[in-house]
Amino acid sequence: DKEHPHIFIILGASGDLAMKKLYPTLWWLYRDKLLPPKTQIYGYARSKLTVNELKQKCQNYIKVLPKETSLLEDFWKLNHYISGQYDSRSDFEKLDQELKLHEIGTVANRLFYFALPPTVYEPVAYNIKHYCMGKKGWTRVVVEKPFGKDSESSKKLTDHLASLFTEKELYRIDHYLVKEMVQNILTMRFANRIFNPIWNRDSIASVLISFKESIGVEGRGGYFNEYGIIRDIMQNHLLQILTLVAMEKPISQQPDDVRDEKVKILRAIKPITIDKTVLGQYVGNPNAQGESVLGYLDDPMVPKDSTTPTFAETVLHINNERWDGVPFILRAGKALNVRETEVRVQFKDVPGDIFGGKAKRNELVIRVQPGEAVYVKLMVKSPGVAFDIEETELDLTYSRRYANVKLPDAYELVIRDVICGAQMNFVRSDELEEAWRIFTPLLHHIEREKVVPINYQYGGRGPKEADELAQKYDFLCNGK
Ligand code: BG6
Repeated sequence: DKEHPHIFIILGASGDLAMKKLYPTLWWLYRDKLLPPKTQIYGYARSKLTVNELKQKCQNYIKVLPKETSLLEDFWKLNHYISGQYDSRSDFEKLDQELKLHEIGTVANRLFYFALPPTVYEPVAYNIKHYCMGKKGWTRVVVEKPFGKDSESSKKLTDHLASLFTEKELYRIDHYLVKEMVQNILTMRFANRIFNPIWNRDSIASVLISFKESIGVEGRGGYFNEYGIIRDIMQNHLLQILTLVAMEKPISQQPDDVRDEKVKILRAIKPITIDKTVLGQYVGNPNAQGESVLGYLDDPMVPKDSTTPTFAETVLHINNERWDGVPFILRAGKALNVRETEVRVQFKDVPGDIFGGKAKRNELVIRVQPGEAVYVKLMVKSPGVAFDIEETELDLTYSRRYANVKLPDAYELVIRDVICGAQMNFVRSDELEEAWRIFTPLLHHIEREKVVPINYQYGGRGPKEADELAQKYDFLCNGK
């Protein structure tokens, strides 16, 4: 299949996502010879641009070594640009005619990537289906979140897409699913004997899945204010991680077997409630420098009375035999002290203590980023003559253990998977529906009641109420 012509069409080619992520990623894939050899790339957007202007716009985001400059020129030769409206039949027919010029031979494939504002998803999907489907091979459509704002709007979008494309043609991205350590969760759980027998309510006290960013919404205030941190991070990235941590063993590694198990876990979760939720919004730190003096409300795109949360923590439970009673705590926040995404599984205390209460809980930490690592906190005898005990770590830090391995960027893997037709790391419509079912009542409550978020300072740990909530649900904070 790789030998046939492939055309990669970026819809919204003049926008932020295209410049910052897609063109640089396509360049890396091209440079590393990971694109099918006969690939052409089409940019499509409303602005009138030439490929040369596009190239200038991408310049700051494309990293290139001096010895690669001529290769980069070759990359740009594969690029084309067409300007057109998103709701115009004739513009899509024109695009189709252009694409056909490259579809030499009996088989040719088309990949449409929506790097678009959600407001134009529907007309663009319609126009692709009616005027721009490949006639000689597969057509795949890649969409990025937001997939709606709640159950109802998401269903509308899902129904629209489903009326045009099959589930096999649709690739809903959650780029966290291709991150190395997120993918590692299934391997660690199901390719080892040591974890699974204790992976349940008998041994596990609580699980924290946490996403922290050290930057605010810089430059994205307009989008963010409409969506907030729960929709931006929790309902998708963190919930996906949770399904991998909690699901039963799938009957195989086939995409649908894995996704069937994920859906089962989601179905066992009741909608989240406000009484188990802490919301926060960052304010500037007057003693700092640079961006961190500015609070969320100082962003020019954010209304001065916005109550959109930039931090949220919530607790949910999975009503099945394995997890009954175990709190799963999801935490996500912007403008915090560190950039760090991790899963922390805290085990119960050892029964029948003989160490005078000095033994601390075991904890398994999966650090998704930065600095991919898996480590287990455990107790050892203090080394040396003293007979005491202390906590240490059994540490698998990837940069040390796999010093020469370069971990690919998430978008490289996403694009590779679409080209290969590997759907495992994309979100199926039933998963999406369940995810919205869990979050919609809370989101509606927050918006209806205008729940006021707690202020926290840019660069701090977030609201202290979040630590208190975690503690209440049996997660012992290490004070970091
Ligand atoms: C995106 C969110 O999905 O993920 C952003 O919209 C967030 O707000 C980003 O910054 C984080 O992704 P990563 O890969 O940089 O951790």
